[in-house]
Amino acid sequence: MTPFSRRRFLSAAVVGAASVGVTVGNSRTVLAQAEGPGGLTIRGKEFLLDGKPFRILSGAFHYFRTHPQDWRDRLMRMRAMGLNTVETYVAWNFHQPDEKEADFTGWRDVVAFVRTADEVGLKVIVRPGPYICAEWDFGGLPAWLLKDKDAPLRRSDPAFERAVDAWFAELLPRFVDLQATRGGPIIAMQVENEYGSYGDDHAYLEHLRDTMRAQGIDGLLFCSNGATQEALKAGSLPDLLSTVNFGGDPTGPFAELRAFQPDKPLFCTEFWDGWFDHWGERHRTTDPAQTAADVEKMLEAGASINFYMAVGGTNFGWSAGANLSGSGYQPTVTSYDYDSPISESGELTEKFHKVRDVLGKYTTLPNTPLPATPHRMPAQRVAVGESVALMASLDVLSTPVRRTAPVHMEALGQAQGLIHYRTRVGGQQGTKGLRLTGLGDRALVFSDGKRIGTFDRNQPDHAVDVTLAGESSTLDLLVDPTGRINFGEGLNDPKGISGKVLLDEQELHDWEIRRLPLDHLSGLKFTSEDTPTGPAFHRARVHVDTPADGFLAFPGWDKGMVWLNGFALGRYWSIGPQITLYAPSHLWRQGQNELVVLEMERTGDGIDVRSAPDVG
Ligand code: GLA
Repeated sequence: MTPFSRRRFLSAAVVGAASVGVTVGNSRTVLAQAEGPGGLTIRGKEFLLDGKPFRILSGAFHYFRTHPQDWRDRLMRMRAMGLNTVETYVAWNFHQPDEKEADFTGWRDVVAFVRTADEVGLKVIVRPGPYICAEWDFGGLPAWLLKDKDAPLRRSDPAFERAVDAWFAELLPRFVDLQATRGGPIIAMQVENEYGSYGDDHAYLEHLRDTMRAQGIDGLLFCSNGATQEALKAGSLPDLLSTVNFGGDPTGPFAELRAFQPDKPLFCTEFWDGWFDHWGERHRTTDPAQTAADVEKMLEAGASINFYMAVGGTNFGWSAGANLSGSGYQPTVTSYDYDSPISESGELTEKFHKVRDVLGKYTTLPNTPLPATPHRMPAQRVAVGESVALMASLDVLSTPVRRTAPVHMEALGQAQGLIHYRTRVGGQQGTKGLRLTGLGDRALVFSDGKRIGTFDRNQPDHAVDVTLAGESSTLDLLVDPTGRINFGEGLNDPKGISGKVLLDEQELHDWEIRRLPLDHLSGLKFTSEDTPTGPAFHRARVHVDTPADGFLAFPGWDKGMVWLNGFALGRYWSIGPQITLYAPSHLWRQGQNELVVLEMERTGDGIDVRSAPDVG
């Protein structure tokens, strides 16, 4: 018998659980799919929860973008806003970055996240993907799917579906007993994500649906799509609820949903109440008053809502995604503040108050006092104490592999970080044009250790002049990746060099390739003796009396990655719009802290720890 808690067993018995199952070992067999009011059901154009009318007032909060010791704080702020539900994606690559056993511990303990939401009084909607978009690297898919850079994705492909089935077999059983059909908080799950914006392979959607059902997910399933007939038709199944995702005035999108699905509840499963930023573009916000007015229109129409996002977060480390549009490759910034009602660092913004006032007309707001902004650290300027050049540390950081031609990092089993390619060019004289094909990012070019140029994927025809003299020259290409594309047709976005390196018309062969995942920096030989030029690691000590939220700025620096006490905070880049990186209180230690900065170009004369965020 499933280890039911007495409360759950009774509640399931009382409300007539939608199904009764037994678990033998860890495989659960659903004995009966008895129809009952347990969990979230649909009666005409309204939702019922355990048989009673229920309007979903939900907000998106991504456990993988907020320190786990802040989960409860943020969930309580969502409750205070007037929400009754929290929605989260599950990021597959957060749990299984390498093709090894999936991790569900600590920050990855998604079950603990669900239980915390339940304790705070929130129902839960889970969107397990397997693809989630979300401005997250590769839309949540693990990089190892790109070992073959042209691997079929998000369709009825045996290899892709084998990988998804294995992942779902690890993930979904953890949710089964947490479903509302069994007295738990999970009221619904999504199949795929806006599939109609990518493909129309219904066999693939049916495979996902059937796999979820076979794994014991017997609650309400839905498909969310953009608000057009084409997207809704291609991206949903007739037996599953269809919902729409949009920003702004709901009139048009809801008319499209009504036209497609006239007799079911209206549910905006992503109300884009803010937006995200790409490096080098203007910071995107939405007007709080207009947002509140659009929310009121939805509530007036009797609709359910999921605010995307309710709580901002952070693309820590290498997790930010990217887009591909008419303006080329657009890498997403580290902050996922999203101009949310509850900011990346937990602040209740003007948008929070305006939306809460509107929600208060349709639901009973908790009468608990509103929580203050989490404590912030006093500002200080930090000096860099020691440095070491990256190019002088290659053999500390990596062991080279040899390949005839350059290959992308995923082909070498690498998911994150930089990748370095070296070859020797002999017997040529004079100046030649160096060109690359299949560059996923930016590449710094060195000839005999001297920086001679930069390649950028957004200038594919760019050539770098190489002057060759003497017997032979050493050519280095240091690729500095930003995110894998997370939306649309460019989804197969391998990192590094997956094409050719040409000197005039001659393809260069015989390469030493060094993977630089940068997940262990302890071997670096820092010194205070000299300040290296070019890509280098810089170390600073930061004294902290009382750990609190801090915001790091790099005035005069250009582009790089930052580690706080060994934790990769994320990328910074002088082209903005993001200025500060969020460093949550739980990552700081009382007393001495260590900051390591990998700067690719030029250093400023110090690092600012600020007491307020600046995301543009
Ligand atoms: C779509 C996706 C989300 C997110 C938003 C934009 O609706 O489903 O994951 O990418 O766009 O923030």
